Amino acid sequence: MKILITGGAGFIGSHVVRLFVNSYPDYHIFNLDALTYAGNLENLSDIEHASNYTFIKGDITHADFIDSLFERYRFDHVIHLAAESHVDRSITDPMAFVNTNVFGTVHLLNAFKTHSMPFHDKVLFYHISTDEVYGSLGETGLFTETTPYDPNSPYSASKASSDHFVRAYGETYALPYIITNCSNNYGPNHFPEKLIPLFINNIVQEKPLPVYGDGKYTRDWLYVIDHARAIDTVFHKGVTGETYNIGGFNEWQNIDLVKLLCSLMDQKLGRPKGSAQQLITYIKDRPGHDRRYAIDATKINKQLGWSPSVNFEQGLAATIDWYLDNTEWLDRVTSGAYQEYYSKMYNT
Ligand code: NAD
Ligand code: DAU
Repeated sequence: MKILITGGAGFIGSHVVRLFVNSYPDYHIFNLDALTYAGNLENLSDIEHASNYTFIKGDITHADFIDSLFERYRFDHVIHLAAESHVDRSITDPMAFVNTNVFGTVHLLNAFKTHSMPFHDKVLFYHISTDEVYGSLGETGLFTETTPYDPNSPYSASKASSDHFVRAYGETYALPYIITNCSNNYGPNHFPEKLIPLFINNIVQEKPLPVYGDGKYTRDWLYVIDHARAIDTVFHKGVTGETYNIGGFNEWQNIDLVKLLCSLMDQKLGRPKGSAQQLITYIKDRPGHDRRYAIDATKINKQLGWSPSVNFEQGLAATIDWYLDNTEWLDRVTSGAYQEYYSKMYNT
């Protein structure tokens, strides 16, 4: 069985590739990634020589390349994670998100329809999406699979658009698909432009912790390895044409999460209690900032038997340990272009 995983050198993709390569020696895993600033083959150094693994460097926005790749390999299944993924970058450069997340997804759908569907009895296009497509919740309620789409950022609009294309290809061309919409992930290999790894890095370096607005925005956090386990479950047990929400019933207001992170970091670094909290700095809000996300993950739990295996305290502690043990990884990804991004983004 030939499975194409796109975006496998990124944060979530690398955990998915590792899980599939190690768990399924009979599957051949092809990892297609353009290695943008967010892609890093170092994330997969432990499995790079596995006999059931092939890395392909390539860009999903290049239609001819994608078509010839599918013609050559005729993949049985696709697990599509490649995307521009950072909301703040989507505000400064929306077209990069339209190109990769919308056009890139449609190129993959076209190639899959032409070169995979006619040649196998069983095929699946599994599209990885986000809870951000549902927009923002008030103080109560949860996103379910039937919540109407209402995206507010260029990132979430591009993901919503790609979800619609996948569904439309299902209706129009009978393309077998599944979509999952997951909440905020955290864990090892998370690029340090996102809240948790950025703040871990800044605490180590005793730099300000830039909290947007009043800090009372709520996110629902899931350990990345539990997301990878959920993707494995859905890939094997999910019903074609269905969508599943993935989340850990684990809501945190940003400021409470930041304070917890600060106190864990003080302990880990052997610094006096309260040191990291002094770095908290409230800054101008993100435009179009969604107030609250929270996932109802009942469907995947009841129908497919998935539930998270790691609680937040364990996951956060493991994440901090990983960053403190992998300072070279962090140094390498925060040099060069990242420094430029950081200065522009936070006016430093
Ligand atoms: P990431 O930014 O860490 O990784 C994205 C990967 O895609 C990188 O390896 C990058 O090189 C690759 N890529 C980008 N543009 C490409 C292109 N044009 N062609 C080929 N490869 C390209 O992202 P992530 O956080 O791992 O997210 C992966 C997927 O999961 C995305 O689709 C995202 O929307 C979705 N998602 C993320 C989260 C989260 O909390 N991070 C939550 C829900 C859903
Ligand atoms: O909900 C799933 C989504 O989660 C994914 O689809 C996205 O790819 C992923 O990036 C993430 O989006 P968020 O915007 O929620 O994540 P981020 O880490 O950027 O921000 C989390 C919260 O923290 C959000 O309310 C904004 C706030 N924040 C973020 C940064 C980077 C700050 O207060 N300060 C910061 O410097």
